Amino acid sequence: MSKPRIKDLLASPGPVPGIAVSGWVRTRRDGKGVSFLEINDGSSLANLQVVVLAGSGLAGAVREAATGAAVEAEGDLLPSQGQGQAWELVARALRVIGPAGPDYPLQKKRHSDEYLREIAHLRPRTNKYGAIMRLRSEMAWAIHDFFRGRDFFYVHSPIITGSDCEGAGAVFRVTTLPEGQAGPVGEDFFGRWAGLTVSGQLEAELMAMALGRVYTFGPTFRAENSNTARHAAEFWMIEPEAAFFDLADDMALAEDMVRALVGHALDRCQKDLELFDRFVEKGLLARLGDLASGAYHRMPYSEAMDRLAKSGEKFEFEPHYGCDLASEHERYLCQSLGGPVTVHDYPRSIKPFYMRLSDDGKTVAAMDMLVPKVGELIGGSQREERLDVLEGRLAEQGLPKETYWWYVDTRRWGTAPHAGFGLGFDRFLMLLTGVNNIRDVQPFPRTPKNLEF
Ligand code: 4AD
Ligand code: MG
Repeated sequence: MSKPRIKDLLASPGPVPGIAVSGWVRTRRDGKGVSFLEINDGSSLANLQVVVLAGSGLAGAVREAATGAAVEAEGDLLPSQGQGQAWELVARALRVIGPAGPDYPLQKKRHSDEYLREIAHLRPRTNKYGAIMRLRSEMAWAIHDFFRGRDFFYVHSPIITGSDCEGAGAVFRVTTLPEGQAGPVGEDFFGRWAGLTVSGQLEAELMAMALGRVYTFGPTFRAENSNTARHAAEFWMIEPEAAFFDLADDMALAEDMVRALVGHALDRCQKDLELFDRFVEKGLLARLGDLASGAYHRMPYSEAMDRLAKSGEKFEFEPHYGCDLASEHERYLCQSLGGPVTVHDYPRSIKPFYMRLSDDGKTVAAMDMLVPKVGELIGGSQREERLDVLEGRLAEQGLPKETYWWYVDTRRWGTAPHAGFGLGFDRFLMLLTGVNNIRDVQPFPRTPKNLEF
C-alpha cells in the first residue's frame, strides 16, 4: 500500500477504495451515530474529513483521537455526503499513534502571534504557520529556478569567515577557546580571529570572476542589537553576482527577480496566499498583483532626499544629504510613489568599501530597493574593480589590507566591472505574506536574548 498525502487525495479524480492516511487531528465533532475527524498531514492547508460511523467498533479510538493527536485512518475515499469538501474518508480502522491530552496548547481558537512565538516548536501545526513554512519552501525552489533559467551558477560561500564583508562590526565570533577565557587569538582554532559570515558577497565576487554569473543562497548572521520587527540575528540571503554588469544591469536584475518571484507565488501558492489575505492583511492579493505587474521606480539618493525634505511630513529623524534612510523615510517614499523604489548613487561616506566610486568622487554606485510594508528588501552595488581606488577605500574606512588581500588581488589579474546584490529572504516572505514581524516568517527565529528552540 502506498502512502498517499491528503493534498493528492483531495484532488482525486474518483473514489479510492482501501487507503490509509496519517496526520494530526485538528478537530473532532461527535454527532448522533457518527464522528467527524478533521485530519491534516501538512501537505496543504486543507484537511481530510474522516467519517467514523457508530457500529464500526472504533469508539475507543475515536475517543482518544483528540485535537493534536497523531492518527492513522484506513478506509475508502468516497464522495462527501456533507458540504465543504468533495471527498471524505469513511473509516474502517482508526489507530491513535500519538495521543494529545486536553491541555494540548493549540486548541481550536485563534492564538496571538506572541503566544505562538513562545511555542515555536508547535506553531507550524497551525494553518497560518503551516502556510508560511510551505511558502518558504516553494519560494526557495523558485529562487533556484529563477537563476537556473538565467544560467547563473549556484555557489556556496563559507559560513565561517576571517573577514567582515560589510565592515560594520556586527559579526558573531567563532571560537573554541574555553568558556570564560578570552585567550590570545593565535591559540584559537584557526590561529586567528574567526566569525560567522555577514554576507557571502566577497566570495561570490571571486566566483563571478571565474564563472561569470553566480548566486549564493544561504544563512547569514548579524550581531546587530537592533530589536526591530525586521532584523534577525540569523537570516537567509540570496546574493547574485555578475561579471560585466553595471549598476543599471544590477537594478534591472533585481526588479526582474522580485517580479518573477511574486508572480510565481501568485501562480503556485494561491490557497496559502488567500489565507493571508483573509487573516493577515486585507488586500494582500491585490498588492501582490501590483508587485507582479506594476511599476518599479528608480531615483537617485539626492532626489529622494529632496523629495523627503519637500514632503511636508513631520519625520522623527530630519532627512538631510549624507544620512542613512530611516524606516519612516523608506515608508514615505514607497507610499508616495505607490510601489517599490530603487534608490541609487548614495554618498560614499555611508556605504561599504567595496562599492564603486563614481566620477563625481562623492557618490558610489550603490542601490537599495525599498518596498511597501518592509522597507529595504535589497541592497547592492556595482563593485570597485580598480585596484588603486579599492585600496584607497579600504584605507579610508580603516580596514586592514592584510585581511582582504585575496579580495584585492583579483583586481590585479584580469579585473573587470561587476555588480550584485543581496535580497533578504525573510524580509521577502514578509512582503509576500503581509506578516509584520520577521520572527513569524522564520521557523526558529534568533533575535537578541532569544535562543530557546
Ligand atoms: O544591505 P545588506 O547589508 O547588503 C549586503 O550584505 C551586501 N553584501 C549584499 C550584496 O551586495 N551581495 O543586506 C542585504 C539585505 C538587506 O537589504 C535586507 O533585506 C537583508 O539583507 N538583511 C536582513 N534581514 C534580516 N535581518 C537582518 N538583520 C538583516 N540585515 C540585512
Ligand atoms: Mg543595506
